[in-house]
Amino acid sequence: MNLSNHSMAFSAILFLLPGLSQAGSVEVLHYWTSGGEARSVQVLKEAMQEDGHTWVDFVVEGGGGGNAMATLQDRVLRGNPPTAAQIKGLDIQRWARLGFLSNINNLAEEQQWDQRLPPVVAAAMQYNGDYVAVPVNVHRTNWLWANKRILDVVGVAVPTTWAEFDQAAERIADAGYQVIAQGHQDWQHATLFESVVLSVGGPEFYQAALVDHDFRAMRGDTMDAVFDRYYQLLDYMTLSGDLAEWNQATSLVINGEAAFQFMGDWAKGEFSAEGKVANTDYICAAVPGTQNQFLFNIDSFAVFDLRSADQADQSAQNDLVRNIMDDSFQRTFNQNKGSIPPRTDMSMNAFDDCARVSMKEFIAAAANNALLPSIAHGMATTGTVQGYFYEKIGELTVSPLPPSESSRELAKAIRYGQYVIK
Ligand code: BGC
Repeated sequence: MNLSNHSMAFSAILFLLPGLSQAGSVEVLHYWTSGGEARSVQVLKEAMQEDGHTWVDFVVEGGGGGNAMATLQDRVLRGNPPTAAQIKGLDIQRWARLGFLSNINNLAEEQQWDQRLPPVVAAAMQYNGDYVAVPVNVHRTNWLWANKRILDVVGVAVPTTWAEFDQAAERIADAGYQVIAQGHQDWQHATLFESVVLSVGGPEFYQAALVDHDFRAMRGDTMDAVFDRYYQLLDYMTLSGDLAEWNQATSLVINGEAAFQFMGDWAKGEFSAEGKVANTDYICAAVPGTQNQFLFNIDSFAVFDLRSADQADQSAQNDLVRNIMDDSFQRTFNQNKGSIPPRTDMSMNAFDDCARVSMKEFIAAAANNALLPSIAHGMATTGTVQGYFYEKIGELTVSPLPPSESSRELAKAIRYGQYVIK
């Protein structure tokens, strides 16, 4: 046997032995660039490097991932997919349907995913019953973040109803603080809007209007009431291009310039990155009227079919998936990211108060038909409908129309998105 035959045989043996893998390389597309996000993705990078693999960062800036998806499409269509990409919700189905994703049932079996993942998470990772993506977390979008010192100085409690919110807001504004910090981007306005839909309409209405897109629900009185409340909230914000990014808005709450931010719990990652402690420096609470209700946003990596990859890269891809579902990664990553693990078999002891509340409400909501997919974060609908939804909410935020006209406009935009072929 000559030297190259030798090394080929050696590689084959290594590949077959469980737990032993060759050093390969993974290229991972993500859009995690804020302080908390960067700390989180670093955990995965280090786990891969400890296994001897090379991490190639494929990072595309832009909160909510809109830019990343456009870049990904371009790369895949040119026949050069990354090892894995941060793709969520219904878009996973789309990539799988087009034949670009890899079946990872063998890894799911090896790590007993069916026993560890709740059905709502497992279903989102599968296409036609086969696993094609691996979940890193569960984010909740219907959160309100508050600066504790401002509330203490002004003498108000965290509001649990909109009436309480209005009272608190008046006093905070009178004391000279900005009430709500809101980054001026469509996806952020859409994130707040979906929480208001849940709060004003309740879970059944949310399901009918934003998941099933029932035309009557989208255009009825309840949606008018949603817009009415949404527009009232705009009075407490200063929208400007100078405050575009969500994490700039979080900084205003962290630094005590603004009292509140409505945002998913990736915002908590920013508080943690600045060394701030839940219930001491800041408070996390459900958006008024959404206690025990949970709008979920699951981050996951879809695994691409690396047709021409060598065995080392293939084995690195397998290790990437294994590492993501590993206890220690799930714990540290989610502590940094502000989310909770998608695995319900993990102890929450090492997590802070907000994460524990999140896990408790995630489980409670699942048992009460109040666990619902976030439309603003790609869990409820296709990227196309989501795009029209963003655009319309963005327009109405800048130029509000009377509530009933707003409902009509939004219903039309969503309908349009359903029929457009993209
Ligand atoms: C993602 C989060 C991310 C946030 C801001 C969401 O859609 O799920 O992981 O931190 O956008 O970019």
